[in-house]
Amino acid sequence: MKYTVLSLFPEIIDTFFTASIMAKAISRGIVSYRSINIRDYAFDKHKTCDDAPYGGGAGMLMMPEPLSQALAAAGAKEADKRVIYLSPSGRLLTQDLAKDLSREQELILICGRYEGIDQRVIDIYVDDEVSIGDYVLSSGETAALALIDATYRLLDGVISHESLDEESFSGGLLEYPQYTRPEIYDNIQGQMRVPEILLSGHHENIRRWRLKKRVEKTFANRPDLLRNGIKKGLFDEETRKIIDELSGITEEL
Ligand code: ADE
Repeated sequence: MKYTVLSLFPEIIDTFFTASIMAKAISRGIVSYRSINIRDYAFDKHKTCDDAPYGGGAGMLMMPEPLSQALAAAGAKEADKRVIYLSPSGRLLTQDLAKDLSREQELILICGRYEGIDQRVIDIYVDDEVSIGDYVLSSGETAALALIDATYRLLDGVISHESLDEESFSGGLLEYPQYTRPEIYDNIQGQMRVPEILLSGHHENIRRWRLKKRVEKTFANRPDLLRNGIKKGLFDEETRKIIDELSGITEEL
């Protein structure tokens, strides 16, 4: 997978590609990356990239020409590239969308600043507008990093398959709680023990306990996921039974 990121502040993005698991994915040839500074394509001596919106309104917009020049330099119209504009007005980035995007040859990510970009650039170049959540960030760079992180870790060889199978959202549920050593943890609230069942070595009981915890956590934090999962028939019989047993949860949903 290749990531090409267009930004007015590429240094924000660059550091992510030099650290930790991503650095390893690059050295193994699983991921490649280039950043393009949109300001390099500005044509006046002040390197202007923004201007006031037609029709009035607050803030400034990114001008179409420097951005479209940068997109042309990135080869944005080539068939094996998917162009994404990070914007709070986009479709929501979910685990399913991350999976879909991770199958692409190359993602070209446009990071907006100010109030956004000229609509004509979106009309010409952008395949998907993507939002990382229902809040407004000051820039698209942090959103691009979230999208890159959510997608590259799904590529073969980056992290283990077991980690991906059991994590949040797999099978429409959030992740179960996890514990590591020490078994008894002395802290400001006194002593806290690891749940007994995890020390039992009984794999089947542990599996069932974890599934139950996943359902409870999803009910508490994201009932919308349970509702959706039931509607789409995502859950197997065992999971459905746990959902039903949990104090009439389904009526509350
Ligand atoms: N730019 C500003 N806010 C954003 C958001 N929530 N998602 C994606 N890009 C953004």
